[in-house]
Amino acid sequence: MEVSKDILSYDEQINLELRSLYSQFGYKPYKMSRFEEYELYAENKAFMPSGDILAFTDVSGKLMALRPDVTLSIVKNAIDDGNLKKLYYNENVYRSNGIEYKEQMQVGLECIGELDAENVNEVLKLAQQSLDIVAKGRRTHLDVYHNGNETEKNDLTYYSDLTFRGYIEGVPAKVLSGGRYDELLRKFGKSGGAIGFAVYLNLLENLDQEATVINGFEREDAMLNIALPKGRLGEKAYEIFEESGYECPEINEESRKLVFENSDKNVRYFWVKPTDVAVYVERGVADIGVVGSDILLEYSNDVYQLLDLGIGKCTMQVAAEKGFHQDGFEKTLRVATKFPNIARSHYLNKGREIDIIKLNGSIELAPLLGLADVVVDIVETGKTLIENNMEPVEKISDVSARLISNKASYKFKHEVIDGLCAKITERL
Ligand code: PRP
Repeated sequence: MEVSKDILSYDEQINLELRSLYSQFGYKPYKMSRFEEYELYAENKAFMPSGDILAFTDVSGKLMALRPDVTLSIVKNAIDDGNLKKLYYNENVYRSNGIEYKEQMQVGLECIGELDAENVNEVLKLAQQSLDIVAKGRRTHLDVYHNGNETEKNDLTYYSDLTFRGYIEGVPAKVLSGGRYDELLRKFGKSGGAIGFAVYLNLLENLDQEATVINGFEREDAMLNIALPKGRLGEKAYEIFEESGYECPEINEESRKLVFENSDKNVRYFWVKPTDVAVYVERGVADIGVVGSDILLEYSNDVYQLLDLGIGKCTMQVAAEKGFHQDGFEKTLRVATKFPNIARSHYLNKGREIDIIKLNGSIELAPLLGLADVVVDIVETGKTLIENNMEPVEKISDVSARLISNKASYKFKHEVIDGLCAKITERL
C-alpha cells in the first residue's frame, strides 16, 4: 500500500525528512527507554541543564527518572571498541522550566569515537541542513563558537571546545543546539571524541501553516518591536529612543493605548508591566526592551543584554530596622522580598539559613510589623528606609536599566538593532 505523505502531521513530516537525511549519511536509528536510573543524573549534575528532574521509584524500589536528556544515556551505553558510532534518535525529554515540567520532542544525532575533521564538518553540515529542513523556506542562522562556552540558560554544559546553535526566523528561541562533548565521554571512562546536536521540534508547532503571521504581526513586518516598562523608567527610556532618532509622537498623547507605532521609523512600542518586559522579549513578541538589571537577576531570562542605559540607577540591598545585626542573630533569618531568587542566592553564598517571605510591595512594612527580620529590596534615594526607621545592612548589587534583545531577533534583525545601539551609545 502506498502511503501518502499528506496524512502526516507537520512534526511527522519533519521527522521523516530529518531521519532520511541522517540515514543517507550512514547514521543508524537509536531507541531507548524514557526511564533512566536517577543516579545517572545525580552523578553528572555538572553536565545537566538546570532545573528539576522528575523522579519516581520503580516496583523494586529503585529511584528512577523520566529522562531529561538523551545524550547522557547514549554516552553511558556506548561501547568503547574504537569503532565510530553514528546514531540518530527521535525521543521525548522531560524538563522543568522552574514552573512546570514540559515534554519536549527532540530529533538529534551523535557521532562518537575516533573523530576526524571530516566527521566534525559532516555534523556541522547536517546541523545546517536540519535547520533548512525545519525552516521550510524561512531564514536560518547557525552560530558556531570555537573554544568558547557562551553558556545560556537551559544549555547543556557538556558541550565544550566547539558549540553551535541554530535559529529560524520567527521562532523566538534556538531550535537547534549542539557541540563537542569529549569531556563527558572521559567522565564515563571512554576514549575518543563525541559531537552531536538536537533539534527541538516542539518549538516549531506554530510554524505549520504559511507563516504570514508571526506572534500576531505580519511576517513581512519590518518593524522593530520595543517593550518599555510602564512608568517613570519607561518614560526616561523612551526619551533616549526619541533623542536617538526613533521617535513615535503618538506615544506622548494622553490616552490609554498600549501599542504605538511610527512606520516612517519602523518602530512599534508597547507599554508593559516592568517585571514583564523580559518575558515579552524572551518570547519574541518584542525584539528588544528596557528592563532593570534587578529583574534580569531575579528571573534569569534567556535574552541578550546589549547596553547599560545608565538610567534607573539604584542598589539591591539587605535592610533592617536600625540597630538590627543579622550576623549576630542566631535564629533562622526571616527575609521579606519581591526578589526571592536574589535573596536565596545571596544567603546561600553566605551559608545562612533563611525563611523567605515573598511580598509584592511595601516590603519595608514587614520588619516594622514583625513579619520579617530583614528585607531584600531596591534602595533608590534611601528615603523609604529613613522614614521607616530602617537602614541598609549590606549591598547585594548595583542596579540600572538595560537594553535587552530577543536572541533570535538579534540574529535576523541585527543590522537594525546594532544601528539602534550605535545611535543610543552616541547619545549616552
Ligand atoms: C521601591 C522599593 C522601595 C522604594 C525605595 O518601591 O521597593 O520600597 O522603592 O525607594 P527609595 O529608596 O527612593 O525610597 P516601589 O516604589 O516600587 O513600590 P512598592 O513598595 O509598592 O513595590
